[in-house]
Amino acid sequence: MDAKVAESGKGAVDAGKERVIIFDTTLRDGEQSPGASMNLEEKLQVAELLDEMGVDVIEAGFPIASNGDFEAVAEIGRRVKNAVVCGLARAGNADIDRAGEALKTARQSRIHTFIGTSPLHRKFQLQLSEDEVFDRVVSSVTRARGFTDNVEWSPMDATRTEHDFLCRVVEAAIKAGATTINIPDTVGYSTPEEFGALIRMLIERVPNSDKAIFSTHCHDDLGMAVANSLAGVSAGARQIECTINGLGERAGNAALEEVVMAIRTRSDIMPFITGIDTRMLMRASKLVSAVTAFPVQYNKAIVGQNAFAHESGIHQDGVLKNAQTYEIMRPEDVGVKATSLVLGKHSGRHAFKEKLRELGYELGDNAFNDVFRRFKDLADRKKQVWDDDIVALVEDEVAAAAEAVKVVALTVIAGTGGPQKAIVTLDVAGRHETREATGNGPVDATFNAIKMILPHAGRLSLYQVHAVTEGTDAQAEVSIKLEENGRMVMARSADPDTLVASAKAYVSGINKMATRRGKAAPEAIAAEGA
Ligand code: KIV
Ligand code: ZN
Repeated sequence: MDAKVAESGKGAVDAGKERVIIFDTTLRDGEQSPGASMNLEEKLQVAELLDEMGVDVIEAGFPIASNGDFEAVAEIGRRVKNAVVCGLARAGNADIDRAGEALKTARQSRIHTFIGTSPLHRKFQLQLSEDEVFDRVVSSVTRARGFTDNVEWSPMDATRTEHDFLCRVVEAAIKAGATTINIPDTVGYSTPEEFGALIRMLIERVPNSDKAIFSTHCHDDLGMAVANSLAGVSAGARQIECTINGLGERAGNAALEEVVMAIRTRSDIMPFITGIDTRMLMRASKLVSAVTAFPVQYNKAIVGQNAFAHESGIHQDGVLKNAQTYEIMRPEDVGVKATSLVLGKHSGRHAFKEKLRELGYELGDNAFNDVFRRFKDLADRKKQVWDDDIVALVEDEVAAAAEAVKVVALTVIAGTGGPQKAIVTLDVAGRHETREATGNGPVDATFNAIKMILPHAGRLSLYQVHAVTEGTDAQAEVSIKLEENGRMVMARSADPDTLVASAKAYVSGINKMATRRGKAAPEAIAAEGA
């Protein structure tokens, strides 16, 4: 087992506080959110940020799901410096071997293998008896140990599994060499009291429970994922599986920023610490939101736009006199800075680089040059450029950098005369292609022209515009959703021109749809009998 995680999980004590391992699964369970696909470049950026932020284990993907997932896990393994890199595998040889192969590049690796254990999963999904499931637990953990001594095992749907059978398989997994036992509330069915009692029961009843670290993996179907995870830790678990912005299957997973800040803020009743640099939470939230195009709800705890905003007169009065009257956390501790006026059109490269650093971005030379050019264009067009403008611009540039198709030029003829017309030029793998189309409004015309260059069967099921800052000269942020064969992708882009932002968001969605097509369908994965 990796020394850092082993040490931090079991015994390490900081001023009387035990360490809780933060296992981030944004790139695996998070990426399973309908629509939240990320390309390789985006995954690498998220992984590097998680590593820098102090995440202990990064679940980088499900290597057998697609070649793209395999490559992503391998490349993340190469890049990550501190965290353990983990790959998911079902309880079959092919899955485990593929995960082991992908993780060869990692300095520290973990294989996470799982199988459904509840009566529903055994009977309907797997069609296996208790004994057959038991045998697969032993064989899968044993095989994973052939690749690494850091093996995590999960009984899927643990919260609906009979306690006797659960104890039996957990004991067997530890005996076969699992060093972490993860207890998933796969369908988000549990309550804090019940989940805490489950973890306590396992630790007390399983004879060799002291040989493994217990972990929580809670889904948010009833809105209790964070509360359940914390109850698990209070009952003896020392690893929490979570995702940035609570991304994940259906209603998502426990939100990393919430569990980390709850542990930090309420250390009076939860004597634990994590290794997370909380000042990076906002940046991580913004990056994940940008690359997945999943907006963060305004009133989301910790990272929502309103999380530290005080509207009522009484609250504002109290905060001005003493912030603690209505604030239990300091905004700067989660990376929220007072929005400040940035720079003008006369600002130079040096000042701009400083501003980027202050906002938490270190860009390579090429990316910096591109962003600086866009900043100058923006400053020419917009009287005041704010921090939020810069963030939207950088995130947009970063998200677009790795896309195969890019918007080069757009001319639109709109107005009362009709029909509206758009002329679009796209860069398709280095070749410029131009088409002209009419439509029912300028956005429709633009999308029609794009579709002539990039024909696809996706249905546009969402088109939404919002202003990044105030004023009629604000940048427009356009979000779109495309659906194709039961799958969906979200995409987003920002530009001072709403139509350019629309074209870029639409092209980004088509790029993402192409990436998504490379993934094995969930039915195909399920059919192999995890
Ligand atoms: O929710 C779940 O059960 C999972 C497992 C693969 C751990 O994501
Ligand atoms: Zn899950």
